[in-house]
Amino acid sequence: MLPVFVFDAYGTLFDVHAAVRHHAEAVGPDADRLSALWRTKQLEYSWTRALSGEYVDFWRLTEAALDYAFEKIPGTNRETREELLDAYRTLDAYPEVIDVLTRLRDAGAKTAILSNGSPGMLELAVRAAKIGELLDDVISVDSLRTYKPLPVVYEQVTTKFRVFPDAVSFQSSNRWDVAGASAFGFRTVWINRTGEPEEYPDMAPAATLSDLNGLDTL
Ligand code: LAC
Repeated sequence: MLPVFVFDAYGTLFDVHAAVRHHAEAVGPDADRLSALWRTKQLEYSWTRALSGEYVDFWRLTEAALDYAFEKIPGTNRETREELLDAYRTLDAYPEVIDVLTRLRDAGAKTAILSNGSPGMLELAVRAAKIGELLDDVISVDSLRTYKPLPVVYEQVTTKFRVFPDAVSFQSSNRWDVAGASAFGFRTVWINRTGEPEEYPDMAPAATLSDLNGLDTL
């Protein structure tokens, strides 16, 4: 087993669609579309900010993306804005997360999050999911003021744990994040929860799983 296991946060440990799901009725019939666009825009804003060098933290991008999604999809109920943002602060963790982290730690591995999330939002999410005790570190992009998939972001892991990239198993449900992490030199595992088609064949994952189960036996 590799000595260090690092996890993307949103979409990998925390279910980004749980916020809208919990308020779907109040949001309206296009709730699923709103949730999908909210996520897509949040990510697009992070790439735009990273490439332009005009950093704004991930919480503010999350708010801006939700506002865009409300504007774009007529009939969605904007009065749910604060409830959705509150729910996003304490998203559900996927059901297998605690077990998998526990198994990895029991086997002697170090575990950490590496996320675009701002430190405040990550702290709340980790606390709500009750996984703080199961993580050696929670690493945010915020001190670098840029976003994944810039190599300098992944480099924070090798610096903090004092290891070479090939000592790190990096898990993400975001295929573009897996691409960046593979290019950096991590062993990558794509957590393909929704059966997405393969992309970036030249920046491939070492393995693909449908959830985090089995990670400790790879
Ligand atoms: C993160 C985003 C990419 O947690 O989901 O870094």
